[in-house]
Amino acid sequence: MMPAETKLSGCVPSPEIYTLGGVELGAVCCIPVPHIQVENLAVSYHGKKVLDGVSLDINKGCITALIGPSGCGKTSFLSTLNRLSDLIPGSRVQGEILIDGVDVTNPRMDVLALRRKVGMIFQKPNPFPLSIRRNIEMPLREHGLRQRSDIDERVERALRDVGLWEEVRDRLDTSALALSGGQQQRLCIARALALEPSILLMDEPCSALDPIASAVVEELIQSLRNRYTVVIVTHNLAQARRVANYAAFFWMTERVGKLIEFGRCQSLFESPSHDLTAAYVTGISG
Ligand SMILES: Nc1ncnc2c1ncn2[C@@H]1O[C@H](COP(=O)(O)OP(=O)(O)OP(=O)(O)O)[C@@H](O)[C@H]1O
Ligand SMILES: [Mg+2]
Repeated sequence: MMPAETKLSGCVPSPEIYTLGGVELGAVCCIPVPHIQVENLAVSYHGKKVLDGVSLDINKGCITALIGPSGCGKTSFLSTLNRLSDLIPGSRVQGEILIDGVDVTNPRMDVLALRRKVGMIFQKPNPFPLSIRRNIEMPLREHGLRQRSDIDERVERALRDVGLWEEVRDRLDTSALALSGGQQQRLCIARALALEPSILLMDEPCSALDPIASAVVEELIQSLRNRYTVVIVTHNLAQARRVANYAAFFWMTERVGKLIEFGRCQSLFESPSHDLTAAYVTGISG
């Protein structure tokens, strides 16, 4: 059992026990063990720097919220963590990103393996125009799973994990596009979870949803704590406060995005150490 002071604000303990470095956890929410270590990261597009000097450690099993005004580089930051940035024409990433101690910016990195480990959810739910079952099955097959029984089991487990199984078990072979927006987003999360990632990147996952669907997805995100390291971009500051253990505040200075403040979510919102953070979280600027 960890000492009480290592417990973090806004943290709901998982009913499941999991182990980290041989220590049984479960009653604790998340502890400061770095999972992603970013050092002096910069991103440019066509030679123009949009993000610079970003250094932070993202802790294992925790939910970290990235906040800041439009254009300050939150999505650009997120896309460096699973090398989706490689697919953006004209983009260049400098600096170091260690995930589980391995430098993922290394050109020799197995990017497919990295993306299996670091899943991504986007703002607009993007199910494939296929059946619900095939949406989860296809990436599993692409990543080498062949056994029908394994696939069926993973499909069911992923759908149960996102609370969708009971809603769709009788219509697995119907089109995913017929699902509601909130269901589609949960399906996309299930699709990512089926690959058994350890990190989930979420870029404004609730912003295209109505308030009820958004609350359901938010609750789902809460349930991922401890089992996954979650990095979520949100413009909804109340949501960041509700779900996150840590928060990172980005801001643009001379048209370049910078990380202004990073820390425990409660401290960042209630006693920020930077005037810009204080102005942003109180709604005075941004
Ligand atoms: N593919 C691209 N090519 C060129 N410039 C880009 C590209 N993607 C983003 N940018 C620029 O990089 C800067 C940071 O954009 P980014 O999308 O990372 O910001 P953001 O914080 O996610 O904004 P938002 O909150 O609106 O989603 C912006 O100036 C944007 O115009
Ligand atoms: Mg963005």
